[in-house]
Amino acid sequence: MNRRQWMLFSLLIALLFIPLGLARADDRPPRTGPIAIVTLDRERPVLFDKDIEPILVNKCHSCHSGSVTEGKLDLTSYESLMKGGKRGHPVVPGKSADSLLAKLAGKTRKPYMPPKSEEPLMPIELALIKAWIDQGARAPLRQRPRPGVVLGRLPARVHPVRAVVISPDGSLVVAGRGNEIHVYDAASGKHLRSLTDPALLLGGGSARAHVATVDSLAFSPDGTTLASGSFQEVLFWDIHTGKILRRLSGVADRVVALAFAPDRTLLAAGGGAPAAEGEIKLWNVADGSLVTDIKDAHSDTVFGLAFSPDGTKLASCGADKFVKVFDVPAGRLLKSFEGHTHHVLDVAWKADGKLLASAGADTVIKVWDYDKGEQVRTITGHTKQVTRLGFVGKTPEIVTASGDHTVRRWNVESGAELRNLGDAGDFLYALAASADGAHIAAGGEEGVVRLYDAKTGRLAHTLVPSGTAAHAKK
Ligand code: HEC
Repeated sequence: MNRRQWMLFSLLIALLFIPLGLARADDRPPRTGPIAIVTLDRERPVLFDKDIEPILVNKCHSCHSGSVTEGKLDLTSYESLMKGGKRGHPVVPGKSADSLLAKLAGKTRKPYMPPKSEEPLMPIELALIKAWIDQGARAPLRQRPRPGVVLGRLPARVHPVRAVVISPDGSLVVAGRGNEIHVYDAASGKHLRSLTDPALLLGGGSARAHVATVDSLAFSPDGTTLASGSFQEVLFWDIHTGKILRRLSGVADRVVALAFAPDRTLLAAGGGAPAAEGEIKLWNVADGSLVTDIKDAHSDTVFGLAFSPDGTKLASCGADKFVKVFDVPAGRLLKSFEGHTHHVLDVAWKADGKLLASAGADTVIKVWDYDKGEQVRTITGHTKQVTRLGFVGKTPEIVTASGDHTVRRWNVESGAELRNLGDAGDFLYALAASADGAHIAAGGEEGVVRLYDAKTGRLAHTLVPSGTAAHAKK
């Protein structure tokens, strides 16, 4: 080989190894063994909000927040962390060596956290957690909202579909996938475009819409504007040009529920940090001004919102197990409905405004008579939490998605199960039914959106962004 050939040859070999090198950088530290112990070289105390919370947001929230609390452990607030999960309190203040949190995250005890499919803690992150525990595991000096939390990139493998919507005319399906938003053609299932925040393009080619996971989506009733909710922000997008029209901030935590008023004048956003009070805010869509801040709407995170068909009322539900109804725009509490025995994850109005349906983490659907203020029936059948529901157009039929991997159709007036679309092979969190009842879209942990023909229950398309291999099981 002459010199020139040799150089070419080495270049080729180098190119071959680039992907391997990248994967390695990503893998460090090893995903299975204990995380290396390093000493924390600093004098100022370790603070929960500044030092610990960003680690939990980046590496733990995908499985321990909102409607997903693996091991019954919610890591979205100091209070919920200290409370712990099914194994009890994970933090023993002053004793990191006795704390489950440090053992699982340090990978010295099983189940290793995060599981080996995900990026483990960096040694310095583990050192911070241990130091924080050893210094007494002090509570944050709670000042909310917390602009100090800086989010890093989501781990490459975390791309759950937490939200999906179908445009009012039924032509588009829009899905949040990790921190990206993808727009698909409903008829062909083709990925048309991704909505991208240009401010996030720096330093990486991926088409991100938000820094953190997209937790909620809503279409304006005229189908021109899409609202997306994520950690501490809501964006308005022009669905046709993909341009950002407006940014709303001033929300304390993740925005997990969004709803436009039927006349398009107001947008309601719900969320809040778990175990802190739930938050509902109403904004004026035209100028982005805050119209109403419903303080203490719920005593814990708000998961679902729905305007009454005449736009005079807003229904909400949350982790405090309540369904509530407020008047619009004043935000006064009109009624509250109690009956679920676990988080209420979604709520919807029947088109005549007389009935409400709610989806529970207690696996049941409840139907409520608004005027009488009472429960009409409890519909059972799902075997895991019912994560989302929606009425199909003006009919008394609802569709539901569940952690039990199924999408089902029910009649709320009779309580009958009309159809089970079968096992989607995935824990489902996101669901949408088109207004004309033609399509149902559902997505979940795997990052795949399944579009069904609602009439036949047949899977019409599996939606994944271009360049992503569909690994749908069905
Ligand atoms: C990919 C999902 C996933 C991620 C990311 C994840 N966990 Fe977990 N976590 C789980 C699952 C699943 C369980 C339940 C395991 C079991 O009970 O066997 C669990 C359980 C736990 C428990 C035990 C709760 C109890 O009381 O039983 C702790 C503590 C924990 N996780 C901490 C963390 C921390 C800290 C992080 C981030 C550094 C993290 N997890 C990231 C999935 C995850």
